Amino acid sequence: MNVKQMRQAAAKPRAGSIFSGGGLNRCQRSAVPLSANRVKVVAPSTTANLGPGFDVFGLAHDAFEDILEIEVTSRGEIEVEVGGVNSECISCDLDKNTAGFVANCVAERLPSGYGLRIRIEKGIPVGKGLGSSGASAAACAVGLNKIIGLGLSNDQVIQLAAKGETASAGFPHADNVAASILGGFTIIRSYEPFHAIGLEPPPNLGVAVAVPDVAVAQKKTEVARSVLPQSVPMEKMVHNIGQASGMIVGILSGDIDLIGRSMVDVVVEPARSKFVPNYCKVRESALAAGAAGVAISGAGPSMIAIVDEKRTPAIQVAQAMKEAFEAGGVGCRAFSSKPARGAKIIEEE
Ligand code: HSE
Repeated sequence: MNVKQMRQAAAKPRAGSIFSGGGLNRCQRSAVPLSANRVKVVAPSTTANLGPGFDVFGLAHDAFEDILEIEVTSRGEIEVEVGGVNSECISCDLDKNTAGFVANCVAERLPSGYGLRIRIEKGIPVGKGLGSSGASAAACAVGLNKIIGLGLSNDQVIQLAAKGETASAGFPHADNVAASILGGFTIIRSYEPFHAIGLEPPPNLGVAVAVPDVAVAQKKTEVARSVLPQSVPMEKMVHNIGQASGMIVGILSGDIDLIGRSMVDVVVEPARSKFVPNYCKVRESALAAGAAGVAISGAGPSMIAIVDEKRTPAIQVAQAMKEAFEAGGVGCRAFSSKPARGAKIIEEE
């Protein structure tokens, strides 16, 4: 296992954070006694946006997962180790590691002299738009809520994890972490005040995932956000609200064709399609192979497609997308997956 390690004195959370004291009640602010000494948490991969739901929609899937172990130490500092898939690309610096960033936000809740050792086993490929940074942040927030006994609500755990996204995306977007924490399909109804909603996807919904083998920029999500339009014409806003509404109706009524037809975004995806090699062909191939709908996964470059498994196996669509990437000279891996449950504590001492 390729492991990097970094030790850094536990820093105070930033002023104004709900985790700096102001937003938590007296009981939540008590750091002693600790509720556990060690937890192991597993958190699923996710896809964000799903077309029209930029920074709002998320879907957890079982294509990949991260496993994170958090242990209380008496060393008075936060230590981060990373192993597993693409671990050589991940900094252990608390400002650059999404889990480390989360831990640093609540470090002052630890009793004096105590510290944390966080070991991340990456299973989710890094920088592919599959919620890799979000899953580590999500697992850490869930684990720390348990260990320190923070007593945070689901919305507060999601907000804490979203802060971790700042370390990788430069902005605390919550769509990936909400899906990784709650599982299923999630909606960030409001960022201020914060409110996330979780919905159960239809049982026959399958998710095809195509992961192209392209080099991505460092801080890829930040780059992918920098190309987005600063303002949106009224007719595009109307289009996207209509699609997003159709998506929710499709999820609630189990209408997978409606979900798929609603995955059409005219604001974000057109600006980002240049980062996805052979984008148009990949889209067309997915639909021709029986997908109900297709979109860039999060900030890309992976593509995801939704299928009705009663009619089309997800792997058939994933394979078609892979072939379209390969036709453009880009290697690709294809996966079939299902909606996943949210982050779960699998060991506790
Ligand atoms: N909503 C975010 C974006 C997800 O598209 O920038 C990043 O994974």
